Amino acid sequence: MIRRYTFGKPFPTEAVVKELPYETDALPFFSIEDNRLSLPLENDIPVYGLGEQVRGINKRGWLYVSNATDDPNHLEHTHSLYGAHNFLLIGASHPFGVFIDYPGTLTFDIGYTRRDQMYIQPSQWDLDIYIIESPDDRLVSIVRLFRQLIGKSYIPPKWAFGYGQSRWGYQNEADIRKVAKGHREAGIPLDAIYMDIDYMVRYEDFTVSEEKFPDLPTLVQDMKSQGIHLVPIIDAGVKIEEGYSVYEEGVQNNYFCKEEDGTDFVGAVWPGRAHFPDMLNPKARRWFGLKYKYLLDMGIDGFWNDMNEPAIFYSEKRLQKVLDQVADLKGQNLDLNKNNEMLGLVNTLANNPEDYRSFYHEPGNGWEKVRHDKVHNLYGFNMTRAAGEAFDELEPDKRILMFSRSSYIGMHRYGGIWQGDNLSWWSHLLLNIKMMPSLNMCGFLYTGADLGGFGADTTEDLLLRWLQFGIFTPLMRNHSAMGTREQEAYQFDNMEALKNTIKLRYCLLPYLYSEYMKAALTDDMMFRPLAFDYPQDPFASKVEDQLLLGDGLMLCPVYQQNASGRYVYLPEDMLLITASGPDDIRFREMSAGHHYIEASLTEVVFFLRRGHLLPLAPAAESVKDLDPSHLTLIGYLNGPCTYTLYDDDGISKDFDLDKHAEPITVSPDGSVKYSGSRRLTFDAKIFKALPSL
Ligand code: NOJ
Repeated sequence: MIRRYTFGKPFPTEAVVKELPYETDALPFFSIEDNRLSLPLENDIPVYGLGEQVRGINKRGWLYVSNATDDPNHLEHTHSLYGAHNFLLIGASHPFGVFIDYPGTLTFDIGYTRRDQMYIQPSQWDLDIYIIESPDDRLVSIVRLFRQLIGKSYIPPKWAFGYGQSRWGYQNEADIRKVAKGHREAGIPLDAIYMDIDYMVRYEDFTVSEEKFPDLPTLVQDMKSQGIHLVPIIDAGVKIEEGYSVYEEGVQNNYFCKEEDGTDFVGAVWPGRAHFPDMLNPKARRWFGLKYKYLLDMGIDGFWNDMNEPAIFYSEKRLQKVLDQVADLKGQNLDLNKNNEMLGLVNTLANNPEDYRSFYHEPGNGWEKVRHDKVHNLYGFNMTRAAGEAFDELEPDKRILMFSRSSYIGMHRYGGIWQGDNLSWWSHLLLNIKMMPSLNMCGFLYTGADLGGFGADTTEDLLLRWLQFGIFTPLMRNHSAMGTREQEAYQFDNMEALKNTIKLRYCLLPYLYSEYMKAALTDDMMFRPLAFDYPQDPFASKVEDQLLLGDGLMLCPVYQQNASGRYVYLPEDMLLITASGPDDIRFREMSAGHHYIEASLTEVVFFLRRGHLLPLAPAAESVKDLDPSHLTLIGYLNGPCTYTLYDDDGISKDFDLDKHAEPITVSPDGSVKYSGSRRLTFDAKIFKALPSL
């Protein structure tokens, strides 16, 4: 059951796809005091949700602010990251979900001011609140109802489940070819190379530097013949430059965000002074979206949208003010206070809330002029929507890879997200693990973090451990910042171990793709906290560093340096899988309870749950070369067991469960029953489980 409560005049965010009637009775569960929603938090009940945020799976004990921010410091005391995902799941004995559909700043004080109290405060009371309950009181059911409310999650092409290599700093064609060669010569699988801002002319969107990439279409085809897709970045800001057509068309047609006086707002990003397309204006959105055609026509079939909070390095007007004030300090003795004043001035330049309050959108549809800060969290969503709607128009039958940095719930229908500028820190590997289920609750299934870490120098062991988790995340991309240690897998002494780990990803693809597609098509979560499947288990709800993945796996990544194993909690008997590569996979039955398991640096460890099957394919160089016709079925059974395998052409939008999902049944004696439409052969490796009590 979903109930909708409306306050004031909410901006139509288009986060939800179902039109629900307004309730007229009082809002349940919460009281409204001092302009904020208030909810007592009893007995340590967990609070889940908030998608892309810092801290734990259980969000209790911190102050989170939905205010899309370009902040590369993902620290414990951070309040806002790039997205705004205002969905919470309160795990009380009668659990319920709450979605606050509000695109301005929203503060979630979840036991921060008072440990036993939650306060939710919008900056303005123009919003919709959805309360979601399920008759079976199951957390997964509440999530499913919420996901039905917000619409189906984005589905990328199948090749986007392959391994991708990225780095801010690949300058030209030679660099790209070097990366492709590095992987292919070393036998490291690869499906994508990402192009960061350096491919453009002076950081101008929808341009390609001829000097650096004299013939991009040919390069694209050469790479494709090796099974590698090139994926360019697109930035939100449009460079101000006479003669640059995107700039000129935008100005002529009034497609850019405007100051109060009607002039185009000027903020700076990579190219210096830029205008920001009014992504909330349907005409401007369509215009910007159709610009992707320039690259689609060169054979490009994937993009990542960046800096779309939107990040603003400085606004023209603020820069002038700050420069004048700094000039006033010239010649003065800068004592502690004066020095702080000077540093403070410079620090006010980027992403200043006053700047966000100084420009406007024209969304139409009864909304003439809306100040940006009131709808700030919708910008990245609508940039990605611009692309998504254009792809539907330009390539109606083809899946195009798209993921974005900034997002709001609703954007999950048009693309995925990556988890932004993390650092090569072990704690950020753990953050990546914890964020996966929270994002899934909010509809973001196609997601992953910069493996190895974006900022700071990585180490071989961190990259290896991170890849051992990354082989399970739908987006599996190694990305790093300019100036940091190069971290392509072939750069390291332990290349064999890195390669074997990446190869395991391809073995897992029949499972990962099946689980992704089933989750997307049935509004399910691919990654779940243990508490979701074992609600009666008192320990399961406390576990934050193990995750359930799809139908039958439980992940237990190693995320600490110099560890050669880890403690795990098993809510039931499970089969431990230890793999150092496709040719070295070992199994061990383990009983329910607490255990310490060994996992040397080169070993991935994870579990198959009792009564489940895991299909594995032979490793491949790329998704295109994957041969899913021979599957090894690993089973941990005490009776016949069925796995629903999903497969399709991976590129068209014909993704129908009835058509493409087929059951494979395995008996404890290893015999396999399959009467589906594909030509499949099987090997079964069955481990006998004790019957459940
Ligand atoms: C910020 C993005 O988060 C990062 O991934 C990218 O490399 C840089 N912008 C440069 O484009």
